[in-house]
Amino acid sequence: MVDSTEEKRLEGRKLLLGVTGSIAAYKAAELIRLCKKAGAEVQVLMTPDAARFITPLTLGTLSEREVLSEIFPDNEQGSWTKHVSLGLWADLFVVAPATAQTLAKMAYGFSDSMLTATALAARCPMLVCPAMDHDMYLHPATQANLERLRAFGYAVMAPGYGELASGLVGHGRMPEPEEIFGRIVEMVTAPLRPSSGGLLAGKHVLVSAGPTREPIDPVRVVTNHSSGSMGYAIAEAAAGHGARVTLVSGPTALDTPHGVDRIDVTTAEEMHAAVQAHRDANLVIMAAAVADYTPLDPAPSKLKKQDDELTIRLRRTPDILAELGAHKRPEQMLVGFAMETDDGLANARRKLEAKNLDWIVLNNVNEEGAGFGPGTNRVTLIHRSGHTEDLPLMPKRDVAEALLNRILGIAG
Ligand code: CTP
Repeated sequence: MVDSTEEKRLEGRKLLLGVTGSIAAYKAAELIRLCKKAGAEVQVLMTPDAARFITPLTLGTLSEREVLSEIFPDNEQGSWTKHVSLGLWADLFVVAPATAQTLAKMAYGFSDSMLTATALAARCPMLVCPAMDHDMYLHPATQANLERLRAFGYAVMAPGYGELASGLVGHGRMPEPEEIFGRIVEMVTAPLRPSSGGLLAGKHVLVSAGPTREPIDPVRVVTNHSSGSMGYAIAEAAAGHGARVTLVSGPTALDTPHGVDRIDVTTAEEMHAAVQAHRDANLVIMAAAVADYTPLDPAPSKLKKQDDELTIRLRRTPDILAELGAHKRPEQMLVGFAMETDDGLANARRKLEAKNLDWIVLNNVNEEGAGFGPGTNRVTLIHRSGHTEDLPLMPKRDVAEALLNRILGIAG
């Protein structure tokens, strides 16, 4: 979490804050306060429905600017091009909270309020923070709209998991103002600014996924429980942001994500060769669970059972990521994964340093819903600066988005 009491990190920055009709609209007040305190100018745009949840007077007072809502206000003459000038003025446009309704309008280019019209006219990076009920968030329509927005290059802050206004427990809680503030700081100070065509347009992203299988004999292998789903979600998310994506995959049961170039491998040795062939990538994310050891001397024909005990000698496989780290180019970013049962943070930090990584993603295998297997994950992101962030339990696709957003936010 970002400490909002630090120096004025948003000095001179111009923010548009879109507020929509969600119960979480009250959190916009605190977000404005944090941004103003950090030195930003904040212009609030409210949808007409947002005023049912918080008054324009409150947000106008906090932002020290008149809140805009209608595109054709009754009381104003000759200012109907404000949406265009505001779209050019801003360094970042944040929509928090973003309802399913406003997300849908933004995904399909509607311009029926000051907020949606300005979103269409804006040239600056966009950040949306969905807030809605669990089922509305997980509905394929909302997910498809979010996918469209991501493809436009919008950053999407995944909602948290917890108690919702409906009384249900699930996904859909808007992140806390301090978290959103942290993302805003990251985005406006990011060296890798998003370009049109997606956050990763023109970039080559290499992702590894799945387990490796190391042969003992022609019918038996040494392997692990990796399903590949985390790496595939990352590859899909990166392609959604406009990257050219190469996915080096161990054996999995998963379909190749749309727009991803997949290379199938079986052993650690093969994965090593495939990754080396694409080491030119701008961003490498090693999500594969590479076997650290392989049988020293695989038998050419099936081993027959003989004694009560059998010893198989193993040798180390090449550490693919450490090798990339040793030859890392200055503009290249390397991301590793660590799966730990004990001393997670300390082990992950050690790996980050030893392999010369920019980020490491720590999975805690002991936690319910985390780690191998499809569905959800709960991870801790650790940047080489020491910046550490616990993400809540969420669908792996959201973890992938959060990870890419952070990587693009703190690229230094
Ligand atoms: N990795 C790799 N090549 C290997 C082994 C691991 O590139 N031969 C990568 C993994 O893809 C992952 C990271 O390195 O991104 C994991 O680091 P590692 O130290 O190998 O973790 P563990 O396999 O969990 O190692 P340890 O047994 O020391 O905990």
